Amino acid sequence: MQMTAAVLYEQGLPAPYADSQPLKIEQVALEGPGEGEVLVEVRSAGLCHSDLSQVAGLRKRTLPVVMGHEGAGIVREVGRGVTAFKPGDHVVMTVGSGCGACDYCVNSRPVLCDLVGASRAKGLLMTGARRLARGGMGLFHHSGVSSFAQYAVTVPGTLVKADPAIPFDVAALFGCAVVTGAGCVFNAAKVRPGQSVAVVGLGGVGFNAVMAARIAGASTIVGIDINPSKFALARELGCTHTVSARDDNAVEAVRDLTRGGVDFALEMSGSKPGMATAYAITRKGGEIICVGMGASGDMYPYPHTALVGEEKVIRGSLMGSCVPQRDLPLYMRYYLEGRLPVERLMSGSFGFDDLNLNLDRLEHGEVLRQILRPHG
Ligand SMILES: NC(=O)c1ccc[n+]([C@@H]2O[C@H](COP(=O)([O-])OP(=O)(O)OC[C@H]3O[C@@H](n4cnc5c(N)ncnc54)[C@H](O)[C@@H]3O)[C@@H](O)[C@H]2O)c1
Ligand SMILES: [Zn+2]
Ligand SMILES: [Zn+2]
Repeated sequence: MQMTAAVLYEQGLPAPYADSQPLKIEQVALEGPGEGEVLVEVRSAGLCHSDLSQVAGLRKRTLPVVMGHEGAGIVREVGRGVTAFKPGDHVVMTVGSGCGACDYCVNSRPVLCDLVGASRAKGLLMTGARRLARGGMGLFHHSGVSSFAQYAVTVPGTLVKADPAIPFDVAALFGCAVVTGAGCVFNAAKVRPGQSVAVVGLGGVGFNAVMAARIAGASTIVGIDINPSKFALARELGCTHTVSARDDNAVEAVRDLTRGGVDFALEMSGSKPGMATAYAITRKGGEIICVGMGASGDMYPYPHTALVGEEKVIRGSLMGSCVPQRDLPLYMRYYLEGRLPVERLMSGSFGFDDLNLNLDRLEHGEVLRQILRPHG
């Protein structure tokens, strides 16, 4: 079929993106679904800071690629051998699936699956197929999802069924922002009631961590950002305190609030200053959980002797260290119960024409999650 999609041909074009237009809105051919694949009509797709990083060229991609890695839609057709889904099912599209058979997958760490990592790096589906093309030239899949398009062919592991009561604009956010932020709290940090948490970087991911820390029963939840316009909502959604990262005394302020530092500092800004803050505000024996990502190859400094002497832990967490089929239904239930009010993070919806402009808005920190509606 022919459909409209957003294609990235070149990384590193200069901002403002409204002028340089790195994402080309084009008519693209989509084939399939083949055996073991599913055709999804994409109704909503979220704009994540990682999209911005890839447009900026911080992490190399196989090009040209149809962008987008979180989304929600309706299953329209299933390929031979697919039994878990049927046409009409509402689904979330997510990145954290695995092959189901390797050591990582059987130990509930599908985000580390080698097969998925390799197919993602090549821009292919996990089946090894490539279903996207334009004018005879093959286009690559983004993380096996490619949700900045009217339709997507993907594999069942990428999909999680969603209750039709959840609006598509909300469901889309579960694919990355929710699973990354909430999963970091529940799976990586494993926050227990009464513990203290700081979230450095109150973006789409950070806000989900704040809400999850509240569900986990954290007694102190400190939100830290360079942009104080985030603070009012952060307090409504769970922060007991907010601190400006621009304040020279930010680290002392957090240490004072928490009698020496937090049990868990979640780095969700993707910046070196954010990481320095996260390290400094973590108490002895505490953990710094790194979710934000800068350029691949970047080295981050940390005080090694102090790390040893204070028994701190620095840990990475990808896609909330999730098992999508286990975690997303739970997080969607929290949403339906009103405990994870993801709809509060929505900064409006838009069509393809405004996609590049909205990259600029995300870069300026003006927004939380903006939603692309590929069908207008
Ligand atoms: N590990 C993963 O699996 C994963 C998944 C999704 C996103 N990410 C990464 O997580 C990060 C956050 O993504 P997002 O979509 O929420 O981004 P976002 O742009 O919505 O939010 C980032 C926030 O960090 C704030 N910030 C910037 N510098 C800061 C500093 N020095 N101190 C405190 N706050 C600061 C910004 O003002 C903004 O509010 C990005 O780096 C993204 O690439 C990682
Ligand atoms: Zn993302
Ligand atoms: Zn695997």
